[in-house]
Amino acid sequence: MRQEHQQYHADLQAADNHSINPSQAPSLNSLVNQSRRNLLKGSLAMAACGFFGGKLLWGAEAFAKQGSLLGFTGITAQTSASFDQVIVPPGYTARAFFSWGDAVLDGAPAWQPDASDNWQAQLQQAGDNHDGMHFFPFADAPNSHGLLVINHEYINPTLHPGGLTFVDDGNGFKQRPLEQVRKEQAAHGLSIIEVRRDRDGAWQRAPKSAYNRRISALTDIELAGPLRADPRMKTASDPSGSRVIGTLNNCAMGVTPWGTYLACEENFHNYFVNRDAADYQQRVEHRRYGIGNEKNSRYYAWESVDARFDATPNAEQPHLGHCNEPNRFGWVVEIDPFDPAATPAKRTAMGRLGRECSVLSLGDGGRMAYYSGDDSRGEYVYKFVPEGRFDPAQPAANRRLLDAGTLYAARFNADGSGLWLPLVWGENGLTAENGFADQQAVLLNARGAADLLQATPMDRPEWVAVHPQTREVYVTLTNNSERGTRFPLDAANPRADNLHGQILRWNETAADPTATTFTWEIFLLAGDQPGALDAAGQPVSENLLGTINGDIFSSPDGLAFDASGRLWIQTDSDEQASHTANTGCNQLLCADPHSREVRRFLVGPWGAEITGITWTPDYRSMWINVQHPGISYPASDGQTRPRSTTVLVTREDGGVIGT
Ligand code: FEO
Ligand code: CA
Ligand code: CA
Ligand code: CA
Repeated sequence: MRQEHQQYHADLQAADNHSINPSQAPSLNSLVNQSRRNLLKGSLAMAACGFFGGKLLWGAEAFAKQGSLLGFTGITAQTSASFDQVIVPPGYTARAFFSWGDAVLDGAPAWQPDASDNWQAQLQQAGDNHDGMHFFPFADAPNSHGLLVINHEYINPTLHPGGLTFVDDGNGFKQRPLEQVRKEQAAHGLSIIEVRRDRDGAWQRAPKSAYNRRISALTDIELAGPLRADPRMKTASDPSGSRVIGTLNNCAMGVTPWGTYLACEENFHNYFVNRDAADYQQRVEHRRYGIGNEKNSRYYAWESVDARFDATPNAEQPHLGHCNEPNRFGWVVEIDPFDPAATPAKRTAMGRLGRECSVLSLGDGGRMAYYSGDDSRGEYVYKFVPEGRFDPAQPAANRRLLDAGTLYAARFNADGSGLWLPLVWGENGLTAENGFADQQAVLLNARGAADLLQATPMDRPEWVAVHPQTREVYVTLTNNSERGTRFPLDAANPRADNLHGQILRWNETAADPTATTFTWEIFLLAGDQPGALDAAGQPVSENLLGTINGDIFSSPDGLAFDASGRLWIQTDSDEQASHTANTGCNQLLCADPHSREVRRFLVGPWGAEITGITWTPDYRSMWINVQHPGISYPASDGQTRPRSTTVLVTREDGGVIGT
């Protein structure tokens, strides 16, 4: 079971992120001819001094004067395949808090250890593969009472007693049992749960709360913004083009200043198939997004029992059928956790991506940017700048702020400058003759628009984090095995066969989130320390050496700042691979952005990704997620079957975490 489970995850990991981008960013091709060494030396020199043109950019002087921000004892890496715990530094405790199958709705059936629950039960219980999340405090007791909103990215084979059942129909098409498919759909989406400290100060879930809610791949969701009711959004199941059933593959997230949650739809392409080869070739909103074009969709073959996932056009009546269904995924989904009756809304003005996250930077006068990574090899970093401004006195108007604005893609120049390229119809070649009939076409194929404007293809952009005081922006570039081959080296992505990834940071001009220019540098390259030996006792090859000042890690993914400016880094590496012999199990680390020191704070069980992070406003309670543990890890009810689990971390003396 363990091996099967891990192979499943490794396959998903490899294929989820297969490169689709045909762009080779010719404006940067000149860089290919420079030696990698020079490029690396250049970025390292910038990294070491923190200066561009003699000007201190990473303006954290105020924090530097306080000494190190890291006030805990770092822990060692765990490299054993039998490691099945969550460990934290001395003086801290970690407790399993909310696992797949735990009751969400009042009256939900208790989870069955043999996973024999039916889909109606799953619809009332926690979904699988916990990922991005956020704690929304109640005003009366913000540090001891709130709503925890948790994404459920996808499902594991452990969802069913005997794994996923596929039956060949004799013609090479895989068929799925409807009951399993419905349960898988019910295990996607997100959970909203009320949590509070009890009289003893211990955090508890409130099982009868009216706020508790499951949103899944079966929930009614509204389409909002420029593509609402657009012909390209109409399907047989929704001739109005204004309502979608469900949200898929919610990975990371964001929050708005008006208190809503932004779930983000990442690898939605794996759920659809278009079998018409000729149609597939010309339908960019399928092809450029990696929709499958074989007999079945890539993993789950839901289309065998749920026609909505078969996006093959109907030859007799091409405008009927479900070929537009994939157009209705890849969006930011805005959810009001405090209104359980509110219909979630997909905000189409923000563009359609393999969207990892949507992270706010709030500027002066209520101006905003929402940053997103598009996590596939060679995809781009984006930001959306709403046309309007946030005004706390206008709560109703705020609810429409994500329906109009400008989407940009990032170009990282070799000299450390950067440009935000506006994806605006009619400008810079985004015209009908290049395949963009209108702004809706630009939003639907934002990747194609960014190709045309020569945005910089990145090493799989994941989470973004914005420094709470300086508004410096950081992004994790998790890894890219095709860098240096399919995608040329460049200053921002300087390592060939980049298996460890890097963290990059930039300052918007004048610290204005809406600026169209910025300056950037590499914060660190992940990987082994110089001089490290691999599992065979041989020196680690040069492209796997990092620039980490402190504890090593591979494949940064989750990323967030606390209020004091500590940068928390979560990893999603393959601990079975040879390049992770020294970094081991996935982990949570903490970095001081000024000194760049990195210290390991938490290590999770073998086979798991560590992802999702949130705190109470006083930063004395922290939750993180253990996603798809490969081996037994005690869940919230003490059952030791591997289950994705939200873990609560506190300090034994009740102090602020990390200090
Ligand atoms: Fe779902 Fe890009 O991580
Ligand atoms: Ca991720
Ligand atoms: Ca990842
Ligand atoms: Ca994941």
